[in-house]
Amino acid sequence: MRVDTEFEPLVTERLLLRRSRPEDAETISAYRSDPEVHRHQGWERTDPEGVRAQIEEMAGRAPGEPGGWVQLSVTERETGRLVGDVGLSPAEGEAGVIKVGYTMAPAFQGRGYATEAVGALVAYAFERLGADVVRAYASADNLPSILVAEKVGMRLVERFEHRYGDEVWFGVRYELRRDQTVG
Ligand SMILES: CC(C)(COP(=O)(O)OP(=O)(O)OC[C@H]1O[C@@H](n2cnc3c(N)ncnc32)[C@H](O)[C@@H]1OP(=O)(O)O)[C@@H](O)C(=O)NCCC(=O)NCCS
Repeated sequence: MRVDTEFEPLVTERLLLRRSRPEDAETISAYRSDPEVHRHQGWERTDPEGVRAQIEEMAGRAPGEPGGWVQLSVTERETGRLVGDVGLSPAEGEAGVIKVGYTMAPAFQGRGYATEAVGALVAYAFERLGADVVRAYASADNLPSILVAEKVGMRLVERFEHRYGDEVWFGVRYELRRDQTVG
């Protein structure tokens, strides 16, 4: 797999995906702190300082580089507004596997933006990074997230449960392999 040290923003019909910057932290913090968004994600901190620190930590990493996530802010091309974020990370100890994650601000959900952004991210992982597999995890009851995975071509490969003390988390793993893509 390649490391992309010269990342160029990804452009789709309506969106532009660029590296997240520290000044995005306030906006990202606002929607991540929404309980409906937060309950599906594993973030420890959603306050602006925490989000900013995370962005600064990721700034030193290139897409495809092992060791953690690289986050892209999703902006509307027409207005420049930040509407969500996506991220990618090589799976630890599994050569050729790229994990993706995605979040849209509630005010911008239901417009097909996540599908459009994640579709571009998946294409980028295969074409530019040379990934063999693109993977997404979701809660088993997170229908919008599962629909996004399916709409970009991923297929269910595993259902699993994690126990945290008395709590059980039911998860699903979706994947798309390079040899399942067309062209
Ligand atoms: C998952 C998420 C990114 C989807 O974003 P989005 O921009 O609304 O997604 P899209 O508009 O591309 O819609 C994808 C599909 O989900 C459906 N959908 C969107 N919101 C929905 C909702 N609240 N309930 C049911 N279906 C929904 C859409 O109708 C669409 O399906 P369709 O094309 O068959 O109609 C967004 O809901 C989100 O950020 N949720 C909270 C964080 C999260 O769960 N992230 C993923 C963690 S794995």
